[in-house]
Amino acid sequence: MKNRWLVWVLGILGVIGATLFVASLIQTSESNLLCSITRARQQFTEGPTSMQLRAILHYATTQVVPQQSLSEITITFDVLQGLHRPANFLVFGLGHDSLMWASLNPRGKTLFLEEDPKWFQTVIKEAPFLRAHTVQYRTQLREADHLLSTYRSEPACSPATATLRGNHRCKLALHNLPDEVYDTEWDLIMIDAPKGYFAEAPGRMAAIFSAAVMARDRKGSGVTHVFLHDVDRKVEKLYAQEFLCRKQLVKGVGRLWHFVIPPMANHTRDHARFC
Ligand SMILES: C[S@@+](CC[C@H](N)C(=O)[O-])C[C@H]1O[C@@H](n2cnc3c(N)ncnc32)[C@H](O)[C@@H]1O
Repeated sequence: MKNRWLVWVLGILGVIGATLFVASLIQTSESNLLCSITRARQQFTEGPTSMQLRAILHYATTQVVPQQSLSEITITFDVLQGLHRPANFLVFGLGHDSLMWASLNPRGKTLFLEEDPKWFQTVIKEAPFLRAHTVQYRTQLREADHLLSTYRSEPACSPATATLRGNHRCKLALHNLPDEVYDTEWDLIMIDAPKGYFAEAPGRMAAIFSAAVMARDRKGSGVTHVFLHDVDRKVEKLYAQEFLCRKQLVKGVGRLWHFVIPPMANHTRDHARFC
């Protein structure tokens, strides 16, 4: 009889304890969720940043404007606005558009990768608040056809397993970027560099391949928006069709294509091809 009582009391205490535990978990996760929503709203709705004010001054007083047209720029602008939160935005190339891209993503992370160390210094001297790194490419435009026809025989370039960090074997992989690039999940990737208009230039082959790998490798929720400029050129077109895929092309305006790439987990199981 005494034992049955004890079992009952312990049982009731157990139920009360479990209920309190679950209630505290729900409360914590709700307050965390509310906090992060409020923080995101605040970040997105506060007044202009000092970089945005500098951008207004700069573009109001310069004769040199970005190369992309208004309708091309608007595609990226709409995606940034549509996210309703600060974005992670990776941009290949520093140029007259850099201050604009960084300012269109206030309080987000906008990171530039530049091939030319001299040009890097010129731009960063003018705008030291931009976040940028130099990149060394292992390719030349003249190798584009050869790389496209042979990459499938290199297992390190395989769509199923290709990685970027430290991937020396796949020439199309940007293998020696700063860790920050690999450790961030990019919401947007703009490919408007490196130079791809003469035989010895690096060409955009590795940037396109690496953007595809980053997008497919995304672990968090959401998709990666990849923008490719100069798609009137053969190499940009062929590499986009091979790695970014026609079925993921959602918009094309002027010389800009916009791809939306889901993480690899959402791709069909054909591991032999990117598309
Ligand atoms: C095709 S441009 C992209 C230009 C950019 N979208 C803009 O609106 O300025 C890509 C590369 O050209 C080079 N570049 C651009 N402007 C330059 C300049 N004024 N002088 C030297 N190199 C430049 C840089 O290496 C840059 O990464």
